[in-house]
Amino acid sequence: MGGAKMDQSQNLPCSFVIFGATGDLAAHKLLPALFDLEHAGRLADNLSIIAISRREWTTDDWLEYVRSILKNKLDQPSCQALLERFLARFRYLRGDLKEVDSYHALAADIAPGSACSRTVFYLAIRPADFVTVIKNLKVAGLNEPRGMNRVVIEKPFGEDLESAQVLNRVLHQYFDEEQIYRIDHFLGKETVQNLLVFRFANTIIEPLWNRNFIDHVQITVAESIGIEKRAGYYDRAGALRDMLQNHLMQLLTVVAMEPPPALEADALRDEKVKVLRSIRPIAKRAVHAHAVRAQYTHGNIDGQSVVGYQQEENVESDSITETFAAAKFYIDNWRWRGVPFYLRTGKRMPRRHSMIAIRFKHPPQQLFRETPLESIDPNWVLLSIQPEESMHMEIHVKQPGLDMNTRVIQMNASFLRTDEQTLGAYETLLLDVIEGDRSLFIRFDEAEWAWRVIDPILKFWTVEREYIATYPAGSWGPAEANRLFDSDDQVWRNEL
Ligand code: BG6
Repeated sequence: MGGAKMDQSQNLPCSFVIFGATGDLAAHKLLPALFDLEHAGRLADNLSIIAISRREWTTDDWLEYVRSILKNKLDQPSCQALLERFLARFRYLRGDLKEVDSYHALAADIAPGSACSRTVFYLAIRPADFVTVIKNLKVAGLNEPRGMNRVVIEKPFGEDLESAQVLNRVLHQYFDEEQIYRIDHFLGKETVQNLLVFRFANTIIEPLWNRNFIDHVQITVAESIGIEKRAGYYDRAGALRDMLQNHLMQLLTVVAMEPPPALEADALRDEKVKVLRSIRPIAKRAVHAHAVRAQYTHGNIDGQSVVGYQQEENVESDSITETFAAAKFYIDNWRWRGVPFYLRTGKRMPRRHSMIAIRFKHPPQQLFRETPLESIDPNWVLLSIQPEESMHMEIHVKQPGLDMNTRVIQMNASFLRTDEQTLGAYETLLLDVIEGDRSLFIRFDEAEWAWRVIDPILKFWTVEREYIATYPAGSWGPAEANRLFDSDDQVWRNEL
């Protein structure tokens, strides 16, 4: 994150090692992001990329594969030269995560000049394999030099509170905290960072940002895609672990945190942890009132018929894994006491849409009671995260004419000018790892407290296996999600 402190080793040669190089994450996010960084001229000449996978491939096979992954990005003739420059960075190593020999081979590959180079190990693999890789990196001496080598761990960090603590203990046996980058790519999204500026650089916003003026907060991350080819992972994880424990909880912390004393990694993270620690624990008997889970059934999205979750490839026909999760939290501190935060996320919803919606309270004085304005809607601030990155503020103005009628006008501010381009979330974060800036990465206590908040729901859902609500693919989720609301005038906000 621009302005935050970076380490001094940036000019040293760097190897970027991708474990799980032929997997979904590498194909969908990492390789395109690295290529975009190349395009933006942000990759140093001395950066090389080592791809590791079990496939019996040569480096040439690998390069063919990368070409096929990136083919949609190569629309201009000038891209060919760029692609060749990008491909020249790669080496392919056949390796098995479980075999120590693979790590020795990797160490030998990185070795030239290792005393004065940096290595990033990106674990784009199943969470179940994290510990194996971490231990084997140590066996091959790749956790050294401590100041230089970094390990990037994808979310979810663990499967629950206990496993997250175990994973962290193993990591800390072999790596220092400064070497560990727990990634949550939502923190790399431009709007999320913009939220800090919106809140803390605008005197007209911050005084309103509290329980005196805000009725409730909604955080929605809706996706139209299903589980794609990820049944093996997803059916075990579900929406609560896959999205809510990390991406949505992170958004909640950025909405709710106090201003940090400085824009530094630990100062920011201290404030986020305070929010998580202030969330009122959900008692077992209250889980039903605080959380809703559901699964999509067959439906239509964009005119296309799509199958239900239980009919997806490699999903058991009686699976009760949730593809939609919604929850209500209260933050018991001076700023937020009594303000509900409603979070929801789901697959196979009508469209890709992530938004933070802040609803303000009704004006205290009912000045317009005797007029047609009797039931005037309160103000909203809407921060759209994707696909559009923008901020909208809804306010009332009088409609011209004799009657006292209003209309709502939206003050719209796109965060971007038309001539501006931003880096995508993964681009931003990969660059931060390479440059050694940890501000936008998760410190362990953040992950740990997020698990503590979620844990009662997780445990309850694990035991209660008889019933799961459903929603047709292409809808905004189950009707049950409405029962989370504290009052009748609260409704899910689906549109900008
Ligand atoms: C990932 C989840 O972390 O985020 C996926 O594992 C989800 O299930 C994805 O689809 C959404 O990210 P984005 O940036 O595409 O909205």
